[in-house]
Formats: sequence, structure tokens, C-alpha cells
Amino acid sequence: MSSNWTVDDIKDLKGMNIIVTGANSGLGFEASKIYASKNATVILACRSEEKAIDAMNKIKIENSKADLHFIRLDLGDLESIESFVKTYKSKFKKIDILLNNAGIMTVPYDVTKDGFELQNGINHLGHFALTAQLFDLIKSTKDSRIVNVSSIAHKNGSIDFDNYLYEKGGYGKVKSYSRSKLSNLLFTYELARKVEENKIDMKVLVAHPGVSQTELGRTIKKNRVARALISMMSFFSQKASQGTLPLVRASLDENAQSGDYYGPSGFMEMKGKPVKVKSNKKSHNIESAKKLWDISEDYTGIKFNI
Ligand SMILES: NC(=O)c1ccc[n+]([C@@H]2O[C@H](COP(=O)([O-])OP(=O)(O)OC[C@H]3O[C@@H](n4cnc5c(N)ncnc54)[C@H](OP(=O)(O)O)[C@@H]3O)[C@@H](O)[C@H]2O)c1
Repeated sequence: MSSNWTVDDIKDLKGMNIIVTGANSGLGFEASKIYASKNATVILACRSEEKAIDAMNKIKIENSKADLHFIRLDLGDLESIESFVKTYKSKFKKIDILLNNAGIMTVPYDVTKDGFELQNGINHLGHFALTAQLFDLIKSTKDSRIVNVSSIAHKNGSIDFDNYLYEKGGYGKVKSYSRSKLSNLLFTYELARKVEENKIDMKVLVAHPGVSQTELGRTIKKNRVARALISMMSFFSQKASQGTLPLVRASLDENAQSGDYYGPSGFMEMKGKPVKVKSNKKSHNIESAKKLWDISEDYTGIKFNI
């Protein structure tokens, strides 16, 4: 597959509806800007209206014709997810792309409104619940795609199915983030298998942005040693506008296949051009994927209608 894919390869997206979670900042913001520049209708699914409006205004400075819409979504609150879905369905009749991008990283232990440990609750369970409730509309849209966002960190991830949300203790900020990013891959591959088995006209893909300069590290920046490390790491990192390209390529490259994983081409996939990459063996474990699917349905109380 070509490593020369660029934004210029994207065709006109007029008539396409694209939902981007966490669109007000970092990679989600940059992806929204690209989609809007190609004339798509972009729905910014953000938890803060103020930040979303600010992001829309910034995009409109460069592109006054951008077709942007805000619908409130807090992935840490099942009620908010349900309300997002209701509002979306009352306004739009199809979904061409769902980019499940929002996320938090290495935060201290806390729980969502529904009592789920925060990182796995928002990064995985929130997107699982959102995707399940939008699935009928995505399914009925021709050539639709779902793109999840993982990370190099999935390689350190492991899942204890008897303690997925650290109900029995043992929480670690990095451990939990890595678990959530491994979950994003397991969820993608299981959904891709189900879509294929049921011959649904849809692609399910996943991407990671390498190491990108965004707001994600906001919790680590408080510590002086971490700040020094981050500044050293800037050599290995890339701008958010580059880091978003694997996400955008996964969502739009006509040659991409369901189950593909995109990331940067460079050293240890930290930065570079958007290309097809490989996730680790654990992420392809079918038994783990099925277990994660089942516990995700149990926790959220939401089932996919496939
Ligand atoms: N940056 C990297 O190097 C890197 C590396 C690997 C993977 N990733 C992944 O890339 C994705 C995007 O992160 P980013 O780097 O662009 O970070 P970011 O700049 O911090 O953006 C994260 C976005 O997610 C939103 N968000 C957080 N919690 C939410 C919730 N409960 N409901 C709805 N939205 C929520 C944030 O909204 P607020 O502004 O309201 O907080 C923000 O818009 C994440 O999934 C992350 O794991 C990033």
C-alpha cells in the first residue's frame, strides 16, 4: 500500500456526514478541519459547548464555508451519550464516518457518572455505547466507516477481565491508559469480524497518531521531571496536523480495508507519513475480543443490533 497518500488524495466530500468525538482539540480538531476543507458536513461531538464553538470559529477563520455542527457529548455519561444519539437522529439521517477519537490519558483514579473507572470508561466503554446506538444509522449508510483511535501504548496493555475497571484495586495511570488503548483495538477487530460475517456494507478500522503534540498530556505537565521529558520527547513527536493523518487516511483512503490499522511510518511509529501498521498479538486474540465485547455490553447495558 502506498506511503505517498496525502490530503490531496481526498476527493470532494460534499454530502458526507462525519462525526468526530473530541473535535475541539488536538487530533480531532485537525481531522475536523481537513474534513471541512473537503466540503463534508462535520458534527463536532464535544463535552464543552464553549470549546466546540471556539473550535468551529477557528476553522471558519480559514474556511468560512465550513459546514460545522455541534452536538454535546460526554463519553463519561451514558445519559449524555443517549441524548447525543437522539439529537443526532433528529437532525441527520445518515452517518458516513464515525471517528471515535476523544480520549484522556494517565489521569488519577476517578470514575465516570456511571461509576466506570475514568480511562476505560471514556476511552473504550463510552465509544462502545456510542457506536452501538449509532450502529443502525451507520449500517444503513452506503460505504460507511467507523474509525477507532488507539496508541503505541496498547503494547503495554493487558486486560484482567475479573478486574477490568479496577474494581478490586491495582489501578495505575499508565496501566489503565494502556488497557483502554488495547481495548480500542480488540473492539475494532471484533466489530470488523461481526460486520464481515453479517455481510454489512461498512468498514471498521483503527489508527494511531504516534506521538503528537496535543493537549493529551495535560495531567503530566504539572510535574517538573515529566515536563523536561516531554520537552526532550518533542524531537520524536509531530504536530497534531501531521498526527491526525493516519486517522484521516483510515477514514477516507479508498484502498483501506476493514480491520486495517494505520499509524506513522517513522522510527517506532512515533512520527511520519500515514501508513498501514501492525498491532501486537494480544490485540488480535479472538477470545479476549469476545470477552471484552460481552463485558462492555454488561457494563453499559447496551447491545449492538448487528
Ligand atoms: N497525542 C498523542 O500523542 C496520542 C498518542 C496516541 C493516541 N492518542 C489518542 O488520540 C486521541 C485524541 O487525543 P489528542 O492527543 O488529540 O488529545 P486532546 O488534545 O487532549 O484531545 C482529546 C479530546 O477528547 C475530548 N474528551 C475527553 N474526555 C471526553 C469526554 N468524557 N467526552 C467527550 N470528549 C472528551 C477532549 O475534550 P475536552 O477538551 O473537553 O477535555 C478533547 O476534545 C485520544 O484517543 C488519544 O488516546 C494520542
